[in-house]
Amino acid sequence: MQKVLSSEFGIDDISVGWERPQDSAHGDITTPVALQISKKVGKSPKEIAEKIVSALAKEKTIEKAEIAGPGYANIWLTPAALVAALGSTRQACMAKVKSGAPVIVEYSQPNIAKPLGAHHLLTTLFGQSIANIYEHLGYEVIKWNYMGDWGTQFGKLSIAVSKWGDGRIASQYTVDELLDLYVKFHNEVENDDTLEDQARAVFKKLEDGDPELRAFWQDIITVTKSALSSIYEQLHVSFDTDKSESFYEDKMEPILEKGIASGVFKEGEGGSLIVEFPEESNMPPYLVRKGDGATLYSTRDIAQMHYRLEELKPQEILIVTDIAQKLHFEQLAATCEQLGWDITGFDNVLVGRMRYADKSMSTRKGNVLRLEEVLTEAVRRAEEKIKEHGDHIQADDPAELAKMMGIGAVSYGIVSQNRKQDIVFDWDKMLSFEGNSAPYLQYTHARARSVITKAGEVSDPKQVESLTEKERGLLNTLLKFEHVLKEARTNNMPHILANFLFELCQSFNSFYNDTPILKAEEPTRTLRVYMTLLTADVLKTGAQLLTISVPDRM
Ligand code: ARG
Repeated sequence: MQKVLSSEFGIDDISVGWERPQDSAHGDITTPVALQISKKVGKSPKEIAEKIVSALAKEKTIEKAEIAGPGYANIWLTPAALVAALGSTRQACMAKVKSGAPVIVEYSQPNIAKPLGAHHLLTTLFGQSIANIYEHLGYEVIKWNYMGDWGTQFGKLSIAVSKWGDGRIASQYTVDELLDLYVKFHNEVENDDTLEDQARAVFKKLEDGDPELRAFWQDIITVTKSALSSIYEQLHVSFDTDKSESFYEDKMEPILEKGIASGVFKEGEGGSLIVEFPEESNMPPYLVRKGDGATLYSTRDIAQMHYRLEELKPQEILIVTDIAQKLHFEQLAATCEQLGWDITGFDNVLVGRMRYADKSMSTRKGNVLRLEEVLTEAVRRAEEKIKEHGDHIQADDPAELAKMMGIGAVSYGIVSQNRKQDIVFDWDKMLSFEGNSAPYLQYTHARARSVITKAGEVSDPKQVESLTEKERGLLNTLLKFEHVLKEARTNNMPHILANFLFELCQSFNSFYNDTPILKAEEPTRTLRVYMTLLTADVLKTGAQLLTISVPDRM
């Protein structure tokens, strides 16, 4: 194309836009380049497109080229060129070698001493998928769980455990019992208004290093982390570090002092410290220290940013959070800028709220729908499904398959949605065998693998004379994979990958349903087997990036 542009129009400095048309009737690839250069060349896009098309038609790799619409050039490649391009899809299944400055991806971030709720699935799974995609594309990623492990809540909890606990030491409570005690504290505040002050005093003691309280705090962290780790394992979620809020305890003071000296932190009401923002920003002041000298969530985030920037020199810092934290992070970013820090690589990757299709899930008693219950329920429902479809499903280990399907259904059900919108939790949709769901993807993968098993050896495709419409369709879908991964990364949008996997399942199933694979003549058979293997590999790679496992048999 560059050659044509340069010889026909004397243009050497343009990056040509290429697209893969949605509809295969519009060719294998299409370009709006005629529209792009029309002004510069001083000719109509149609005229330019005509020239391009007739020049391209002479290329060896091009079967046919046509103009379409206001000046698009639609191009059909030769079978040889299409098949040769599959090499790039095969490459895209493999993780690239890591290089460059790290990318920090922070996600999950639960608060200590509380069980995970269903809503924690959102930042946890979107974050993990984003981190996986970066890693796959060769970025050095630091996966970070920044937990809420510091603050007055530990004062409250300590009081609750000693007043209403049953004498056990902290490490012997479950996270659920700790939550009950915490809730009890808040109920009791109504009868005893000194409790809040007591809690603050106890936390102050903890901050000052009281050994007994430190041990208590450590116990609670241990209990919470062990409960978390079993859930993370089920979800295929993992971290490189969990330096959490408490880690920044001793890193706040020097920053506060410097900021006071430079005038960024100003005195607010009652001796507090605040940051003010220009009127046009429409942001309220940011409280960074209370009147009694206590630091806050915001103070720890400032210290956290400073630490990451100074110690790790990352190219990007992605903090995945609920939309409710938007203002906090805007204030944080503006504060860092006032402090003179370069935060161009920082992005608060926002996720919408969870909405339940089944109302009984959101209106139940108690305050949280526990994630553990959701996962148990998912596996139970998957077991039922497997029984229902007993005659179509073959599993070497039905219990294992139910786990893979149930957890996969929940995870895929979430990451396949646009994170910027509300995320709808819908059991039926998640577990459906037909729609855009994990079971459909898993089933399609197993179907492709079973062809491969029967085929025996898979060799590289040989030259074919022509392609059927279904073959061309599947080839073109497979060829999108590399670009889809890049798109999903640039936008931090895992659902772009999920949508593609769904499209690939549909394209493969439609190919499979009316194209003989194993019974085809050579060289067609080799090509079809190869495409089937590549489909299975792309589905597996893509699913894993989205935290989903796929079975070889189902
Ligand atoms: N632990 C917080 C919460 O549960 C989320 C932390 C988000 N990350 C951060 N750097 N502030 O609300």
